[in-house]
Amino acid sequence: MAYADLHERSITDPNGFWMEQAQAIDWITPPSKALFDETAPLYEWFSDAQVNTCWNALDRHVEAGRGDQVAVIHDSPVTGSITKLTYAEMRERVAALAGAMAAKGVTKGDRVIIYMPMVPEALMAMLACARLGAIHSVVFGGFAAHELAVRIDDAQPKCIIAGSCGIEPGRVVAYKPLLDGAIAEARHKPDFTVILQRDALAADLIPGRDHDWAEFVAGATPADCVPVAGNHPAYVLYTSGTTGQPKGVIRATAGHLVALHWTMKNIYNVDPGDVFWAASDVGWVVGHSYICYAPLITGNTTIVFEGKPVGTPDAGTFWRVISEHGVKSFFTAPTAFRAVKREDPSGEYVGNYDLSCLKQVYLAGERADPDTILWAEAQLKVPVIDHWWQTETGWPMAANPVGVELLPVKLGSPAVPMPGYDIHVLDEGGHPVGPGQLGAIAVKLPLPPGTLPSLWNAEARFRKSYLEQFPGYYATGDAGYVDADGYVYIMARTDDVINVAGHRLSTGAMEEVLASHPDVAECAVIGVSDDLKGQLPLGFLCLNKGATRDTADVIRECVQLVRDQIGPVAAFKLAVVVDRLPKTRSGKILRGTMVSIADSKPFRMPATIDDPAILDEIAMALRRLGYATASA
Ligand code: COA
Ligand code: AMP
Repeated sequence: MAYADLHERSITDPNGFWMEQAQAIDWITPPSKALFDETAPLYEWFSDAQVNTCWNALDRHVEAGRGDQVAVIHDSPVTGSITKLTYAEMRERVAALAGAMAAKGVTKGDRVIIYMPMVPEALMAMLACARLGAIHSVVFGGFAAHELAVRIDDAQPKCIIAGSCGIEPGRVVAYKPLLDGAIAEARHKPDFTVILQRDALAADLIPGRDHDWAEFVAGATPADCVPVAGNHPAYVLYTSGTTGQPKGVIRATAGHLVALHWTMKNIYNVDPGDVFWAASDVGWVVGHSYICYAPLITGNTTIVFEGKPVGTPDAGTFWRVISEHGVKSFFTAPTAFRAVKREDPSGEYVGNYDLSCLKQVYLAGERADPDTILWAEAQLKVPVIDHWWQTETGWPMAANPVGVELLPVKLGSPAVPMPGYDIHVLDEGGHPVGPGQLGAIAVKLPLPPGTLPSLWNAEARFRKSYLEQFPGYYATGDAGYVDADGYVYIMARTDDVINVAGHRLSTGAMEEVLASHPDVAECAVIGVSDDLKGQLPLGFLCLNKGATRDTADVIRECVQLVRDQIGPVAAFKLAVVVDRLPKTRSGKILRGTMVSIADSKPFRMPATIDDPAILDEIAMALRRLGYATASA
């Protein structure tokens, strides 16, 4: 079936379409139907089934005689090692870890936080939770102790599984002190922790609470897969919203299995046995879906890459990994290609490797700028596919369905809606706008399987954030348009979320941290354009009246505060002190106008501005940092 028919069927006959896709999954009790709409606008998929994710990701491949196939390759330029684990080895190690966790009381529905670097044990921890029906919540290693503490208090984990350290180019990041700090700060205390001791830096363990991973699993009775209901949460993944309180996106088990399996052939064009590589981190949704679950559910070989696009050791790392492991489909963020392109614009490293195995490349996480796509196509000579999705959806909302048919690539567009996504562009009143017209991008309910059914502990927030703005639709938080051929274009966020190096960050969360500095009376954080990272956060600080401190000192302390409270991943390094912030007469800070000034883009003077002269002061302050140059 060609794309257009397939998409139409998924919208007009969701039950028929998704029940067919469900046949690819091993069910303990098969679902009686796909869509459960009794509690609309809250929807569920395959709720009455019984299933286990770990079985589908590991055991079934072993049972089918493919136990000797490599499941996971850990390629770690930062430690100089490459390790391969077969499906049989993964099952054995995951069953042992799950058995040890079960012996310490972890059961179906318990939460487990995972705070680990890019090592295969991170996948083992996720799959061990899935084996027991425990709900994992992976926290990205670049987040600081406070962010971890916020997640501990919300998820209330029985256990935390962590690495002793992460390895960033040029420095070893000790995770254990961050974990200890987070547990000390959090009101909720886990019963116990399991610490993977790495050679680069072993952690001090607290007797009785912390367990060395190796000792913990030694002699454990392997655990069997525990059946869970189709709507049982497989995991909770926290993502940035508009405030410092992150949103806990819930992923329901059965829809996750069915939808991810569909994507591997139809979007990523890989078959069982093929090597698939997503160069992301398990702390992000891309890592959940496309480093861990989807490739394993499909029976691919997945790569866990512990390195950076450049500097580990050079801008040829990506090509070395692709060629050495025979990667067929490669997934990365545009910012990673921009980093490579900056160091190797003419692609000299590309020529050092045989890349004949590579058939297509996928980009997501931020808008793929045409320059980057054209550069990658010229270097790699394969289709470079932009596709659009979010933590909330867990898999692409718009993509080019290469495994169904390769549609013409339109630069600047992540192509067309994927099955079950009925994408509309709406004006402020919620009315659909015509082709080519800008508006809020919304998806007509129900969202397809695999997308979020709600937020953890926060159903009211789920309804308010996503369902209430446009009744009957899911509001994506993105703005853009759809052209006459049905191609989607994503232009901006409609909220205060910014995208730094493909990482989604909340300016509101940064403002909360800055406001806690004793000399800061008021502040605003905006995202300014950056050639490498897409956007960078920039803070405006108004100091308390009578503050006599050197402003450079205050700025330095504020930068450090964000690093300590949110983490280095926030990349918050730019801040200026200003006397006042531009506001509407009702007191709303004009962040959008400040972004336009910083990026030297034209803007309309807001009719409700309190005092237009403030904008000149803002422009002057920005020029001191090298922004707002065109209006000089
Ligand atoms: N643990 C601890 N610290 C981490 C970390 C982790 N897992 N990941 C990143 N950090 C730190 C970095 O060391 C850096 O710290 P610094 O301020 O001391 O230099 C900071 O967080 C910012 O990291 P990063 O965003 O990686 O920036 P960079 O300047 O080191 O590298 C790129 C720039 C473009 C190479 C890098 O951002 C990159 O690879 N981006 C692609 C991201 C990606 O694949 N996203 C997937 C989303 S789909
Ligand atoms: P995250 O939840 O971290 O995956 O971030 C999701 C957000 O990143 C989306 O809502 C978009 O704003 C942005 N995004 C992701 N992929 C793309 C893309 N291909 N083009 C434009 N923006 C994207």
